Amino acid sequence: MKNVLLLLLVQLTRDISGLDNGLALTPPMGWLTWERFRCNTDCVNRPDDCISETLIKVMADHLAADGYLAAGYQYIIIDDCWLAPDRDAHGRLQPDPVRFPSGIAALVEYVHEQGLKFGIYEDFGVRTCAGFPGSEFYMETDAQTFAEWGVDYVKFDGCNSNPQDMDLGYEAFGLFLNKTGRPMVYSCEWPMYQQFAGFKPDYAAIQRTCNMWRVHGDISDSWTSVSSIISYYGKDYNNMSLYAKPGAWNDPDMLVVGNFGLSYEQARVQMAMWAIMAAPMLMSTDLRSITAQDHLLLTNLNVIAINQDPLGIQGRRILQINGTNVEVWSRPISPVGSFAIAFLQLANHGDPTPVSVTGRDIGLTASGYMFMDGFNNQPMGTYGPDSPVKVVVNPNGVVLFRAKPI
Ligand SMILES: *[C@@H]1O[C@H](CO)[C@@H](O)[C@H](O)[C@H]1NC(C)=O
Ligand SMILES: *[C@@H]1O[C@H](CO)[C@@H](O)[C@H](O)[C@H]1NC(C)=O
Ligand SMILES: *[C@@H]1O[C@H](CO)[C@@H](O)[C@H](O)[C@H]1NC(C)=O
Repeated sequence: MKNVLLLLLVQLTRDISGLDNGLALTPPMGWLTWERFRCNTDCVNRPDDCISETLIKVMADHLAADGYLAAGYQYIIIDDCWLAPDRDAHGRLQPDPVRFPSGIAALVEYVHEQGLKFGIYEDFGVRTCAGFPGSEFYMETDAQTFAEWGVDYVKFDGCNSNPQDMDLGYEAFGLFLNKTGRPMVYSCEWPMYQQFAGFKPDYAAIQRTCNMWRVHGDISDSWTSVSSIISYYGKDYNNMSLYAKPGAWNDPDMLVVGNFGLSYEQARVQMAMWAIMAAPMLMSTDLRSITAQDHLLLTNLNVIAINQDPLGIQGRRILQINGTNVEVWSRPISPVGSFAIAFLQLANHGDPTPVSVTGRDIGLTASGYMFMDGFNNQPMGTYGPDSPVKVVVNPNGVVLFRAKPI
């Protein structure tokens, strides 16, 4: 019965409910607990690293004070493991009383006072991935609770649910978010679970329902993980790149820059490629102990400008250069006719690889372009469609530039 009602509700509102919440017109930027702090609930033995209001406040202070907010990182998001083991007597979600003694509304207020926005996590299934109460059968209540707390962003996971129910379920939760009247970025994991289950996601439906959606399994703090996500995007399964647009983004998961697993060269690749892929930029790192070098990389305004380009077109892999491991990616950016271009080498055979292509080989067909380095904005010269473009690409490295018609 419940399902029939849900179906009716979704059907009735589907035609008029294309996602139009005015949010995420460029890929959301912020900080998310999961990759770095996972589900550490042990505040007795690891008080500085446990999922708690203290951790969120400290990270909010760093986001605001250390130049991240000024660079665009606006959302601070708690992932799984913030919840108490049970709902309250009225069936409402409640945070763990020991780790969040002031409650979520007070924490949201603190975050807002820093000029930041607040994101939270729930799950479409009966339990979250870590086993806390899920939203199934409580979706309307939970959307309302989040709105009352002043939440600005909801990540909606899909553990402990049937991926076949997701087409209806994710739309229903989106409607309940909308009904609250409070604009909240809606971050979905819908296509990821459907792909795991072996069926083809309905990207058109996902695009009109969610502001962003995970297309790949969780990222981890390693080059294997980062490079496999980039390779997955390179294949552009189901033409997923075509569904990205202002308000709607494919999500390859968090930036792991600043942690333990990537070399500096590999960290530059993640930044450059998340920019080319029009990906949400959600850091997950300890902002208390990050190196100056990683801080500078994460706040590189030239790379961020590519990521945040207002045209909102996702880049794609356009060429794999014969006889090398170098591939070329291109993203149309503003002003119209310009491109961000990345020469990328995911392999590492030890030595930097020189390559030479023509402008035309990499889609630059206008009469002339000015090239600017994507990291430091230095001019790199002018090129025509038949000019040789010669670059040297480091192992696990990237050469990023912008090409603007002249
Ligand atoms: C709800 O949906 C309508 C129609 O798409 C839209 O105009 C409105 O901005 C949405 N409101 C919120 C709070 O998301
Ligand atoms: C992807 O888009 C191209 C056109 O850009 C089209 O030829 C192709 O059939 C599409 N593939 C899929 C799987 O939709
Ligand atoms: C790569 O090789 C293919 C055939 O093997 C050829 O058609 C193509 O022009 C080559 N591309 C470049 C950029 O050399």
